[in-house]
Amino acid sequence: MSDPGPIGIFDSGVGGTSIWKEIHQLLPNEHTIYLSDSKNAPYGIKTQEEIISLSVKNTEKLLEMGSKLIVVACNTATTNAIKILRSSYDVPFIGIEPAIKPAALKSANKAVGILATRGTLTSELFAQTSELYTRDINVIEVEGNGLVELIESGKKDAPETRQLLEKLLAPMLRAGIDYLVLGCSHYPYLIPLLKKILPGGVTIIDSGEAVARQTRSVLEKNKLLNPEKITKERPKFFTNIDPRVLSDIIQAKENNYEVSYLDF
Ligand code: SIN
Repeated sequence: MSDPGPIGIFDSGVGGTSIWKEIHQLLPNEHTIYLSDSKNAPYGIKTQEEIISLSVKNTEKLLEMGSKLIVVACNTATTNAIKILRSSYDVPFIGIEPAIKPAALKSANKAVGILATRGTLTSELFAQTSELYTRDINVIEVEGNGLVELIESGKKDAPETRQLLEKLLAPMLRAGIDYLVLGCSHYPYLIPLLKKILPGGVTIIDSGEAVARQTRSVLEKNKLLNPEKITKERPKFFTNIDPRVLSDIIQAKENNYEVSYLDF
């Protein structure tokens, strides 16, 4: 029996590679294709119609490439478009949502910070999850305006990124949060800076590992795992802008990953 196809992953840009890394680590035998829609980043300030239309475009491209399952490695696209994608296509979809539940359950201070895009924070799906788990919790929601743009331009460690983060986190720190939920797949790339800014008692939570475990479980359930012992394919990455930032962030040269420009 041969592999039914690659796992297709898309994001508004380079950030979803934080999710790709978790999937690749947990499922090294699976062939993966990653689409970075950096030309249209950030999604977080777009209308729901625009986010749906971009998500459909990315999905069609991944299906054209033979994807057996699609990971929407973007919180904004998940919270705004995954329902429509699931009802429009036959392949399984895995989404990513801010990890509010574990943070709310574990917070001793009953104060949790959520850093996400406007598109995620104003979505119906986010409102439903938040309502379920945070009734007795002080939730400080902050829009990470400007962060995606800085990461997309290769400035994840720059002094201006640190300054912006300090400003965005200030209301959370005043409220005494002990958990910070990263509600955007770009933000795990800010963890080194966040650790310098946040006091020791604040735990950072992102959803990458949970998405990878869910991907494995859905592949198993649908009998879609690659039956071959070792995939013959190298991971493939496509971007619709200059590939330099994407190549740098995944260390493509050192890891022998294939990164190409694609007009999509
Ligand atoms: C964005 O494109 O604005 C952010 C992507 C995300 O929400 O994960």
